[in-house]
Amino acid sequence: MINIGLMGLGTVGSGVYEIINNRRRFFEDEIGEKIKIKKVLVKNKNKNRNIDIDDKLLTLNPKDILDDPEVDIVIDVLSEKEIAYDYLKYALENKKHVVTANKAVVSSKMEELLYLSKENNKAFLFEASVGGGIPIINSLKQGIKADDIFQIQGILNGTTNYILTKMYEKGICFKDALKDAQDKGYAEADPTDDIKGYDTGRKLAILSTIAYNQPVDSKFINCRGIDEISIEDINEFRKLKLVPKLIGSSQRSDNHIYASVEPLLVKDESFFSNVKDAFNIISLRGYNTGELRFYGQGAGKNPTANSVVLDVLDIVKGTYTNGKVYENRKISGDKYLTFDGE
Ligand code: HSE
Repeated sequence: MINIGLMGLGTVGSGVYEIINNRRRFFEDEIGEKIKIKKVLVKNKNKNRNIDIDDKLLTLNPKDILDDPEVDIVIDVLSEKEIAYDYLKYALENKKHVVTANKAVVSSKMEELLYLSKENNKAFLFEASVGGGIPIINSLKQGIKADDIFQIQGILNGTTNYILTKMYEKGICFKDALKDAQDKGYAEADPTDDIKGYDTGRKLAILSTIAYNQPVDSKFINCRGIDEISIEDINEFRKLKLVPKLIGSSQRSDNHIYASVEPLLVKDESFFSNVKDAFNIISLRGYNTGELRFYGQGAGKNPTANSVVLDVLDIVKGTYTNGKVYENRKISGDKYLTFDGE
């Protein structure tokens, strides 16, 4: 029996709970191991939840998970970065595997948590931190080992892509489109990080670190968000057959890595312009493979929860790869890049 401690029962946490429970039989048949969610950390036990869960599983005390010797895997789907970091560190030191969807923690503490996972011989996995349901982290770790990636370009934030799509297609204002994205569960608890491009910057830093095998720190990535785009701007773009997209780009050339996030205009019949609503696209360019594109739902309950569960299954099956421990992250982007995707 594999016991899981689930930290957080918000949008993604509920999805994780439901997938693990609904597919319990299948996992047992497939892996030959029972997977059980033993405890769930919540902030409020009495909150009305849209989920069928036994109240006895709920706890307000993180130690009920972190200090329980029977808990094998800790899943972090909390929205708070600082708390999550402390819990994850504690969990790894306490010899528990860790799976997180927390981009802020992964992008700022990747080396340290990977180091701890290595020291304690446990997994530290974060597939859900980038691209929602797109299995991009594993693809980068496993699928392109023979190649050298030199460029990443992507639409990495579902909320801003949703807002821009609705402004462009329906002519609705920024505020209403944001409210809609929040109602659909795409936005962060504080949507500033989405709108200002910081969420894209963090995801770009995570992808770049893995793809280039060199540490890239999001705090050095120049970010411009979409908050200054007005409906009048959009109307002008439409006349010119151009579509605004928030694009994260990074590039490795010689010993430098450049990275930036900003809204750019793409041609209205291009592939990127057809990435709509909360969908993401990640384009990688490698010397051997040329361009590879990964497309799918970049935010939302079930796609993101599915990525969390994939990590859990990799741990249970023993097929996970932690990746390299990066140290001394210094290299960073310091200029805006041009977009050459289509
Ligand atoms: N707020 C994020 C987004 C959630 O909109 O893309 C998924 O990382």
